[in-house]
Amino acid sequence: MAEVEYIKLRRSLLDLYQDFPLFCLASQDNYVLYKPSGTPLDQIIKKGELHPTLFIHQEDRIPSLQKIQGQFNDKLKDNIIGGETTLIKDTLCNLVGETLEEPRSGALNALPETIDIMMHGVSGNPEVLNALATVAFTDYTTIMHSVNVMALTMGFCYFYDYPDEDIRRLSLSALLHDVGKTEIPPDILKAERKLSAQEFAVMRTHTTIGADIIHSNDGIDTDVVRGAMEHHEKLDGSGYPNKIKDISEDGQLLGIIDCYEALTNEERLYRRAKSPFDTLGLLKDDLLAGKFSKIFFAKFCTSLL
Ligand SMILES: [Fe+2]
Ligand SMILES: [Fe+2]
Repeated sequence: MAEVEYIKLRRSLLDLYQDFPLFCLASQDNYVLYKPSGTPLDQIIKKGELHPTLFIHQEDRIPSLQKIQGQFNDKLKDNIIGGETTLIKDTLCNLVGETLEEPRSGALNALPETIDIMMHGVSGNPEVLNALATVAFTDYTTIMHSVNVMALTMGFCYFYDYPDEDIRRLSLSALLHDVGKTEIPPDILKAERKLSAQEFAVMRTHTTIGADIIHSNDGIDTDVVRGAMEHHEKLDGSGYPNKIKDISEDGQLLGIIDCYEALTNEERLYRRAKSPFDTLGLLKDDLLAGKFSKIFFAKFCTSLL
């Protein structure tokens, strides 16, 4: 298969590509220069006109992504100083969304800095984190789920005064626990119906794929792999991918927070979103069945109060 030479850009982020040449389609497969590098987009457009769909050349993809991640990390610092939870969430979702477009390119290496910015910004104010997890935008995606799980996990860690090193590792694990979903076919990932047994088997591979993606980024602590590998394992051995009962503490904690977040916020045709109270009730059933740690469950409930 021929490599894609030009990559379509998200309209909402076009202003971030000032330093890169952008292209538009003149006719089928005929890309022409729309804006040279170094020129801001607003110097190109005439008043009242809209930009056409714009593309970047493949060779600029990774350098532009690194630049954009830096810009988003800077913006996140400003958002945190400003204290607007919605803006913090928006920047985080944009940053994670762009990063997950190229998860095997080394792009994940920008995320430890994002976690550090969050830690630096909210350590004196952990309740911001639970508030952050409840800010909802119109479409609920893996990206928003990952940001929410990260915020709840970081909030949990601050509630119990975890050491910085543990907060850093657990928060990054939470942000990346579902990174393997970037390689699950969209018709399975976005299916608004119950999956067939075969499709569910494919879906389950997001755990091992995620671990592989994390390993492919040299700048990520290998301990972070446990979150991706173990967040669907259950203490009674009924989980996946390996049906292990001896789950790490990171894996156990992320498993509870992941379920809580998904059940609270996921609005799918086959399963209506549930209130936090109902969700904790559902998790309690799994707890009685021996799937989750009673200690972590009780601690997590307390951290939400
Ligand atoms: Fe998952
Ligand atoms: Fe998840």
